[in-house]
Parts: sequence; C-alpha cells; structure tokens
Amino acid sequence: MSLKLGEIAPDFTQESTAGSIHFYPWSGNSWVVLFSHPKDFTPVCTTELGTVAKLKGEFDKRNVKAIGLSVDAVNDHKEWSKDIAETQGAQLNFPLLADPDRKVANLYGMIHEKASDTATVRSVFVIDPNHKIRLTITYPASTGRNFDEILRVIDSLQLTDKHKVATPVNWKSGEDVIISPAVADEDAKKQFPKGFRKLKPYLRYTPQP
Ligand code: BEZ
Repeated sequence: MSLKLGEIAPDFTQESTAGSIHFYPWSGNSWVVLFSHPKDFTPVCTTELGTVAKLKGEFDKRNVKAIGLSVDAVNDHKEWSKDIAETQGAQLNFPLLADPDRKVANLYGMIHEKASDTATVRSVFVIDPNHKIRLTITYPASTGRNFDEILRVIDSLQLTDKHKVATPVNWKSGEDVIISPAVADEDAKKQFPKGFRKLKPYLRYTPQP
C-alpha cells in the first residue's frame, strides 16, 4: 500500500520505548514526523536517532512530535538507546515504535520488497494535526536522512497553510516567498502590505509574512 499526500494517516496502537502508543490520541493537536529504520544496532540509524533527539527544541518550536519505528522488539530498542546516548551524546527523548509484527510498517507501506522483503526502508511521513499526510520521503537504507530538510519543509507547510504563498527553490525560513498566482495584484497589495516585486505576472516575490 502506498500512502499519498492528502490522505489520512492510518491510526494504530503499538508498543514503543515510551509504552503503548495509540497514535491519534498520542499525536493530539501536534504535527508528527513518523520515520522508520531498517533495523536496530545499525550505524546510520544510530546517527539519525541521536540527531533527532538533539533537534527536540526545533521540533517543539514548530509543535511537532517525532516518533521513530524499527521492526525489532522493545527490549532491543532499549539496549540500543544506550549505545545512541553513548555514541551520539543525546538520550532518546521521543518514542521508538517496536514493530516486530510489521503492523505499522505494512499500514504505512514502509517495506519495499525490491529493496528488502523484511526490513523497512527509511520512510518519512509528515502528518498534520488533522492526521493528513503532508510530506512523504523514502530514502534507501544506505543513506542517512537530512532532518534539517524535513524541518525546512515543515516551515513551508505551516507558512503556506496560513498565507496565500508558496516557497521557492531552496527557501529557508525568513527568506522571500512567492505570492500565489491565484491572488490578483490588487488583492496582493492588501494581503502583503510590505509590497512585492513582480518579475512576471505569475512570479511575484514578497517578504515572508
Ligand atoms: C544503517 O543504519 O547503518 C544501515 C541499515 C541497513 C542497511 C544499511 C545500513
């Protein structure tokens, strides 16, 4: 099964390092980054989990909860988390789902049989407070993810949910944004009081609202 943007993220109940998680009540009114790992005690995953733990302040600022998944058992996760703390200098401060029965991995299409018929690939799902899937990215097992990029996309999603703008290539929070082509110039003058630069009728830049 492949989940597409705009679809509702499936609910589930599964064990984790933070006890049993019922996904919808656990996520509450937050955004969620749900990301999977191929296996416990693997080097790239160890670095990723340490990095996500260190980014907790960035996730909190954006009202985002992180939740990882690996197909091994919760006891393995707990042993592994000691290695993560020792080697990455950060304690796991978010739940890591234990998915030995592949319940969540199958619900979210995290097993790509042509890559490995048993292990999850590095899937990322950004899910909004209405449980809608807003971003999916799939990386191969051999490539560690860039969580700064995931935060950047969340910044764009949260901004463009509030204002009639889109964010240009390589945009970072604080940089100019693009006014939606659906907004007429007259309306743009009212909606974007800092003004705009018009390069083409469809390409108008304005300071980030
Ligand atoms: C890793 O996390 O290092 C890894 C996991 C599975 C395959 C290759 C690398």
